[in-house]
This record gives sequence, C-alpha cells and structure tokens, in this order.
Amino acid sequence: MAEIFEETAINGMTMRNRLVRSATWEGMCDPEGRPTERLINLYRVLAEGGIGLIITSYAYVQPDGKHNIGQMGIYTDDFANDYKQMTRAVHDAGSKIAIQLVHGGGQSDEKTTGRKPLAPSAVKVAQFSETPEELTKDEIDNIVRAFGKAADRAKSWGFDAVQLHGAHGFLINQFLSPLTNCRTDSYGGSIENRSRFLAEVYGKVREMVGMGYPVLIKLNASDFVEGGLEIDDAIYAAKKLSETGIDAIEVSAGTPASGANGPARMKITQPDKEAYNLEPARRIKGAVVCPVMAVGGFRSYEVVERALKDYGIDYISMSRPLIREPDLANRWLRGDRSPAKCISCNGCFMGSLKGGIYCITEKKEKEE
Ligand SMILES: Cc1cc2nc3c(=O)[nH]c(=O)nc-3n(C[C@H](O)[C@H](O)[C@H](O)COP(=O)(O)O)c2cc1C
Repeated sequence: MAEIFEETAINGMTMRNRLVRSATWEGMCDPEGRPTERLINLYRVLAEGGIGLIITSYAYVQPDGKHNIGQMGIYTDDFANDYKQMTRAVHDAGSKIAIQLVHGGGQSDEKTTGRKPLAPSAVKVAQFSETPEELTKDEIDNIVRAFGKAADRAKSWGFDAVQLHGAHGFLINQFLSPLTNCRTDSYGGSIENRSRFLAEVYGKVREMVGMGYPVLIKLNASDFVEGGLEIDDAIYAAKKLSETGIDAIEVSAGTPASGANGPARMKITQPDKEAYNLEPARRIKGAVVCPVMAVGGFRSYEVVERALKDYGIDYISMSRPLIREPDLANRWLRGDRSPAKCISCNGCFMGSLKGGIYCITEKKEKEE
C-alpha cells in the first residue's frame, strides 16, 4: 500500500516521499529567461521544506514559444551556470528537480515574442489573444528539435528529469485538441494524427536523453472547453506514451478559457471540493503501466492519503499550497497534519505578474 512518506523511484530518480511541487510560474527570471538568484533561492527553500520532487515553472524551448513575463527559458546554452546553481541548491537540500518544457503556441502573443503566435491552425479561439499563424512542417520540425535540445541541456545541467507540458492549452495540448487543431495533413483529424506532434516531441526528447533518464508529462484529462480535448482522447494519448516508455503522467485539466474549471480552481473550502482531477487520474491510471501523479486542489493530508490508498494514484502534486507553505511536507512529516493554509484565492498570479510570486493572503494577514 502506498504511503506518503516512503522512498520511491521513477526510472532511477529516487524521491524521499510521494509529494511533488507541481510546475508553477514564478515570474522571477530576467527578460531573456535567465533564472535569478531570487528564483534559485525559492527552489532551495522548497527543497529544504521536504518536498520529494520539484517541477520547475514552465521553461520555453525557443523564443517564439515564450508565454509570460519573467518566465524561465531553456533555449540557449548561455544559462548553464545559473541552472547548475539551481540543481545543486535543490540536491544539497535532499530533493529532486525536473524542468518543465513548453512551447506556448497560440497562447503566446506578439507583445511577448515579437512575432505572430504559431499554432496547429490559424483559428482564433477564446484561449488565444490573437489569431495565430498555422505552423509549417519545417516549423514543426524545428520545435520538435528545440524540445530535444532543451532536454539534452537539462540533463547536462543536473536536472533529474524533464517534464513535457502537454496540458493547460499550450502547444502540445493544442495539437491534441480538435478545437485548436483543424489541420488536414498527418497532424490533424483522427486522435492518432492529433497525437503525432506529441509522439514526435517525446521521441526526440527520448532520443536525446536515452532510456535511463526520466521523461514525464503533464497531460490534460479534459480541456473543459466546447470542442476541446476530452477524456477518451486523453486516455488514448496517455496509453500511447506509456507504451513507448514515458516514465510518469501528471493528470491536470482545463485551459485559460475553461472558466471555473480552469487548471487552478478557486474556492476550495472543504474536503469534497479538493482533488478535482482525481477521478480522471484514476481512469488514466487504469489505462497505463507508468506511475500517475494527480494535481489540482489537494489541501488535506487525509485527501492525499486517500488518493494514494483508495484511488491507486502514485504521487500527489501541489502548486498553490507550497507558495504559502514551502515546508508543508516537513510539517506533515513532523505530525502537524492540519490542512494546507492556502485558500485558493489565486492572488499568487498577481505576484508572478508583478515581479515575483508570493502569497498575497499571507502578506495581508501579516499586515493586519
Ligand atoms: C501562479 C501559478 C503559476 C502556475 N504555473 C504553471 C506552470 O508553469 N506550469 C504548469 O503546468 N502549471 C502551472 N500552474 C498550475 C499548477 O501547476 C496546478 O496545476 C494548479 O495550480 C492546481 O494545483 P493546486 O490546486 O495545487 O494549485 C500554475 C498555477 C499557479 C497558481
């Protein structure tokens, strides 16, 4: 029976417990995407707080895939020393660290990248701020190579794993979704075709890092937008990845256009509102052979325990609770099992936008 505080391994990456910090954009990199001292320190504090695995914020694999202010970049060798400092700081404190790789696709914008966004199809949907340009085959091949090169860098800089961002409406998710992918070539149409880009990205990353290095993915179980990705297609993609050797799948859901069903839901005020992706995570777990992580609304120790024991989930990921309490894992380990203090107000997004993430509610409480 899975226990929260037991050592496990994913393809040789050992972790001291089953708690994961889910990828969280902190807005603390310089305008080129280089991590700052402040960001490295944030990761040190998270590792000192006892979490088993840290997944970094989303890092763009090439400049036209940048999505946000202060976002991490992994498109150049120039940041080697900065990232090496980051991985060393985390390892010194006993955690493992994976870097999340992303291309924003149609969710990027001209203001951020200096060019029109690129997407599977030139369709304007609610989650895009502009009408994107349809990717050519050459552009697709370049992005696939950029994911591979980024993974190669991550491995050589001391990251213990990479995670592909296949969720929340970014490029991989855009290819999977029939709403944003209206292509008539071999990348569009059937789910087999819509998952071709993902298969190519995964294949290139695997080729670059080898079989003995953990490659993870964060996948949407559902987009919660009309015409978007639904659970059956997500299960198809998960199964294919599992058959071709993916090392773990983190199950999330929603896009910026999903309203109350977005990736970071609000008003999680009681246990029955927690763990809102648990049911689809269980379905995906039933279809794959690799470990499954569930993310979304975990706040109580008992809910985490139940997800492991009754739902067969292997790892529990959290984002917002660890902004307020980076030492939540150690607190629970010490025996203080009260729920995370996060009230899911999403004020943390404002921190990331305005110079660096922090818990706005905690700050207000201290000022009162
Ligand atoms: C400020 C903020 C930034 C986020 N950045 C990312 C990101 O870079 N990549 C990602 O996959 N998810 C990101 N997320 C989503 C979280 O990883 C997570 O899926 C979501 O918040 C639900 O988990 P939670 O209830 O534990 O916060 C972010 C969430 C927040 C609140």
